[in-house]
Amino acid sequence: MNGSSDGSHRRARIIALVNQKGGVGKSTTAVNLGAALAMIGRRVLVVDDDPQGNATTGFGIEKSALRASIYEVLMRNAPLEDAICKTEIDLLQIVPATINLAGAEIELVSELSRETRLRDALQSVVEQYDYVLVDSPPSLGLLTINALVAAGEAMIPVQAEFYALEGLSQLTGVVNRVREALNPRLHVSGVLVTMYDGRTRLAVEVLAELARFFPEQIFKTQIPRNVRLSEAPSYGKPVMLFDPKSRGAQAYAALAREVAELAGARV
Ligand SMILES: Nc1ncnc2c1ncn2[C@@H]1O[C@H](COP(=O)(O)OP(=O)(O)OP(=O)(O)O)[C@@H](O)[C@H]1O
Ligand SMILES: [Mg+2]
Repeated sequence: MNGSSDGSHRRARIIALVNQKGGVGKSTTAVNLGAALAMIGRRVLVVDDDPQGNATTGFGIEKSALRASIYEVLMRNAPLEDAICKTEIDLLQIVPATINLAGAEIELVSELSRETRLRDALQSVVEQYDYVLVDSPPSLGLLTINALVAAGEAMIPVQAEFYALEGLSQLTGVVNRVREALNPRLHVSGVLVTMYDGRTRLAVEVLAELARFFPEQIFKTQIPRNVRLSEAPSYGKPVMLFDPKSRGAQAYAALAREVAELAGARV
């Protein structure tokens, strides 16, 4: 990590949640890992970089009332600070997304510095946070590329099911190309197994297969399938506010500790 013995501020660890496969738990992880990190005293910014705006909804942000969102930051050069919203958790803020971000994927194609917009926008706030978690859409388009260019780490949520490994070599190929061309610091800090049910043989086998594929990078913490995790967004709350005792809340708390410990190890 960037030391601060001379009094200078450390920069946030920027973690991009990526997987072009839909419904694997990217947004659920952005919301609940973010909340869990804030609850152990870290300053967290969640950036919703997905037109679906699921992380935004997950924090109960009313999209119609927003003055600025990630779209204005990426496409209209609005200062990131103007788009930051508070949440119910003191140490956690979010840059929300709305459906107009869908246009950015197309509009960006013809723009200069189209891959580095998010990285550049984050420069002004990286010293104010310990973690920036970027939620990305289920595609390998320019919004995901922007997340990977801005990040130091890619975190890949993977659902423990039969097709889990499909597409992962394509994804790691993209991560490698972004590292070579645009962002030498980027690495896969972890593969996170989500919706895990250790009672089924298939899930156990998929976990073993993933561990073979990513021997060094698989998180020790798995996120179990837990209905409270899927209910919490409709109340606009992270699971640790909605049902702190649930297995989902406990799993994300354990993941937050594991991620925080990585600071001295793999990172
Ligand atoms: N551990 C879990 N247990 C039960 N349900 C979960 C769990 N994780 C996520 N879900 C539910 O599964 C669905 C997909 O999760 P989520 O939206 O986080 O995936 P995603 O990867 O962000 O999807 P997309 O690619 O569409 O953005 C959601 O309805 C969510 O509430
Ligand atoms: Mg999502």
